[in-house]
Amino acid sequence: MSEILTYSNNRKSGVKVFVADNYEDLSVKAAAVMADVIKADPKCILGLATGTSPIGLYNELIRMNQENAISFADVKTYNLDEYYPLAAENDQSYRYFMNEHLFNHVNINIANTHVLNGLAEDWQKECTDYDLEIEKAGGIDIQLLGIGNNGHIGFNEPGRDFIRGTHRVELTESTITANSRLFNSIDEVPRAALTMGVGNIMAAKKVLLIANGPKKAQAIKDTLEGEITPYCQASLLQLHPDVTFVIDKEAAALLTEYKPL
Ligand code: GLP
Repeated sequence: MSEILTYSNNRKSGVKVFVADNYEDLSVKAAAVMADVIKADPKCILGLATGTSPIGLYNELIRMNQENAISFADVKTYNLDEYYPLAAENDQSYRYFMNEHLFNHVNINIANTHVLNGLAEDWQKECTDYDLEIEKAGGIDIQLLGIGNNGHIGFNEPGRDFIRGTHRVELTESTITANSRLFNSIDEVPRAALTMGVGNIMAAKKVLLIANGPKKAQAIKDTLEGEITPYCQASLLQLHPDVTFVIDKEAAALLTEYKPL
C-alpha cells in the first residue's frame, strides 16, 4: 500500500500526503477517501472534477456502488467547471464526461448532478446562481481536484488574483495546448470556461487532490512547498484545514519537505 508521508511544517498541519505506488493504487486510495464521506453521510454533497486523473477513482466508485458498498441515491454533486461555450451534448463537454465516466453507471438521480451550463447566454447569472445553489444545498462536503501542469485547479489559471466565486475565465495557452490532446485539433478547444473559484474550493469541508505522472511533479512541488501565490493557484490549499493529496511517485518526485513516516 501507499507510503504515508507527513508534513514537517505546522502551518500546513491540515495537509496530508499519500504517495501511491502507481495509478491503480492512487485510484483505490483516493476512492476510499470519497467512499468514507459517502458512507458517513449518504446525503452528502460531492464536488467533482474531470480530466484523465479521476477516471480510475470513478471506476472504483462504480465498482463499490455495484457491490452495494456505497449508494449515490441521496448524493448531490457539483462539478468544478465547464468549457465555454460548449454544449452539454458535445462529447468534449465535462457534462458528457461525467455521464460517461460516473453518472450513467451508478444509482444517482441525474437531477441531483450539477454541471455549469456551457451555453448559458447570461454566464454571469449562471455563475451567481451556481454559488447560491451550492450554498443553499449546505456546502460541499468533499471537493475532488485534479491539477493542471501549471498548478491550476478547476480552471483557476495562474495570474494576479485568487478569485472567490464561480466565474468566467479565459484559458491560458498552456492549458489549451495541454487539453488539446483530448480534442481532434487544437482549434476545437474552447478559449474560455466557467469555473468555481478558489474560494468555493477552500469552502469545501474536505479537499482531495489527485495527481499522477512526471508532468505534474513541478506543480505538486510548487503547491506543497512553494510560497502561497496566485501564480500557482493550488498553493492556497496549504491553508485548508483538511486537505488530502494522493499522488503517485512520479508526481511526488520533486518534493523535499515531505519525509516518509
Ligand atoms: C483540466 C480541468 C482540471 C483538471 C486538469 C488536469 O484543465 N479543468 O480540473 O484537473 O485538466 O487534467 P488531467 O487530469 O487530465 O491531467
